[in-house]
Amino acid sequence: MPESLKTRSRMDAIQAPIVAVVGDWIRQTPGTISLGQGVVHYGPPREALVAVQEALADPVTHEYNDGAGVPPLVDAIAGKLRAENGIDVARGSRVMVTAGANMAFVHAVFAVTEPGDEIILPVPFYFNHEMAIEMAGCKAVRVPTDERYQLRLDAIARAITPRTRAIVTVSPNNPSGAVFGEPSLRALSGLCRERGLYHFADEVYEYFTYDGVRHFSPASIPGAETYTVSMYSLSKAYGFAGWRLGYVAYPEHLGDAMIKSQDTILVCATVASQVAALAALEVGRAYSAPYVRELAEVRGIVRRELSSLAPLVTVPPADGGFYVLLRVNGDYGSRGRLTDMAIAERLVRDHKVAVVPGTAFGMTDGIYFRVAYGALQKATVAEGIGRLVEGLRAIL
Ligand SMILES: Cc1ncc(COP(=O)(O)O)c(C=O)c1O
Repeated sequence: MPESLKTRSRMDAIQAPIVAVVGDWIRQTPGTISLGQGVVHYGPPREALVAVQEALADPVTHEYNDGAGVPPLVDAIAGKLRAENGIDVARGSRVMVTAGANMAFVHAVFAVTEPGDEIILPVPFYFNHEMAIEMAGCKAVRVPTDERYQLRLDAIARAITPRTRAIVTVSPNNPSGAVFGEPSLRALSGLCRERGLYHFADEVYEYFTYDGVRHFSPASIPGAETYTVSMYSLSKAYGFAGWRLGYVAYPEHLGDAMIKSQDTILVCATVASQVAALAALEVGRAYSAPYVRELAEVRGIVRRELSSLAPLVTVPPADGGFYVLLRVNGDYGSRGRLTDMAIAERLVRDHKVAVVPGTAFGMTDGIYFRVAYGALQKATVAEGIGRLVEGLRAIL
């Protein structure tokens, strides 16, 4: 490398993707059960695979296509948004198919900000959101949630400055599993309207709720479609993570900006993936329903086992997603005796179980770990949780 080559970049200040760090520990410790990665254990519907196979012979599959998405898929998404989310795109929204919800978020940040602007992230946040905001030269303003990881409207309102452009909600939440209730999301949406801010609503876990708890889409509030960007993904609901397929419903007036970002970064979502996605959406929500029921049972095991760690550990309610974010009680962190990273590393190396440290999600006021239970069969999760319980008892 030439000595004069400048190697500093905007990326130096961005946190390293934590999944890769934990992945390294796991690779070095064979036999580890990973409760780390936020993925599901099932793959796409058979219909999606058949549709792709058939599409391979069609030259259109191999060409550039419309940046918004292939028209039949965009229509199917509009139908789904109307039927399931109460979002009528004819009222002034547009749909765009993206390479996953992560990309939809990047586009949305570019579309509404100038460098130096601020976006409010309730903590805990999804780390790729913070990373995207910072990569765009903006500031992620962290605002605490309450002890159940629910939104604190007062704290959010106080964090708004003249540079604030958007407030992000992730419900059901990664990493906490909290589901924000309709009243809370309505209040937040009202705050955005009053203060002239966009509401970025990440709804990728919309199908993953338990105990009768309901998901609510803020863009269904009349008028909210003019300032709400709603993001969805097939990664979890349809076991599609590797196909990179998500979509976004956004206010019409952001059309030019969203298309510029899409055209530069992606041109269009992979056409074969879009063909698969259309077939998956035709199967519909029913595809994930049995898996969600199974996850509900796994969730029961996880919560029961972890509750045996009380009072050492608190497990706040988690009515959605496939996560719990447990809190270690005591002052391990503040005394500097143990960090969450150090404990997580020891859990892998000495107890062969992987979880993700809370600092990756902005939880810096103590020690937290995210436990993800979507990727494994019931028996493996039970074994993994057993190791986690034993490991935490031994380490703490
Ligand atoms: C809250 C949240 N948003 C977005 C994503 C990314 O979804 P996609 O695979 O569609 O990019 C994830 C994945 O873990 C997530 O947890």
